[in-house]
Amino acid sequence: MQSLIIFASGRGSNAEAIINFFKEKGNVKVSLIVTNKADAGVIEVAEKEHIPFLIVNNQTLGGVLFIDQLRSYNPSLIVLAGFLKKIPDTVLQEFSNKIINIHPSLLPKHGGKGMYGHHVHQSVLDNGDKESGITIHMVNEHYDEGAILTQARCAVTKEDTIDTLAKKVHQLEHFYFPRTIEFLLQQM
Ligand code: GAR
Repeated sequence: MQSLIIFASGRGSNAEAIINFFKEKGNVKVSLIVTNKADAGVIEVAEKEHIPFLIVNNQTLGGVLFIDQLRSYNPSLIVLAGFLKKIPDTVLQEFSNKIINIHPSLLPKHGGKGMYGHHVHQSVLDNGDKESGITIHMVNEHYDEGAILTQARCAVTKEDTIDTLAKKVHQLEHFYFPRTIEFLLQQM
């Protein structure tokens, strides 16, 4: 059984899509959920699925105890699914080449510090882009700059708002994120 750890700060719809995808397969387990927000929707997802969760803060994230906890779940991959804190170097070093992130735009467009969730969609609309999409990439020490694994596109129309664009992007994410993870796990 391969093990995944998911980090998330928000609603957790990607976490849920990943959990459901692998539940049906039976050979991969989401063994821990890490969040930095005590009221994040992803905690409800964890509780519903009986998956242990950890709430971290700036002090604990990256500390020896936290890394020991992560290590104890022996993850094949750490998956950032809308996690809004920077991953400390200590964690990057311990799990080098094992951390992936999803970003709600076609990187390198609309990436970097402060670019998350609706800020990204607003930036796409402000820029008058004709298309947007998702990027799944390896995580390194710079925001949104690791090697790209998957990109998928959607059209942006004049009628689109932050909400309609977010919906299109989430649909792409829920399809491609679990499948990209599955592909990576099969290479291990
Ligand atoms: C997702 O759209 C993800 O791409 C984005 O946060 C959302 C989380 O949604 N991540 C970033 O913006 C990272 N820079 P969810 O909680 O419903 O999965």
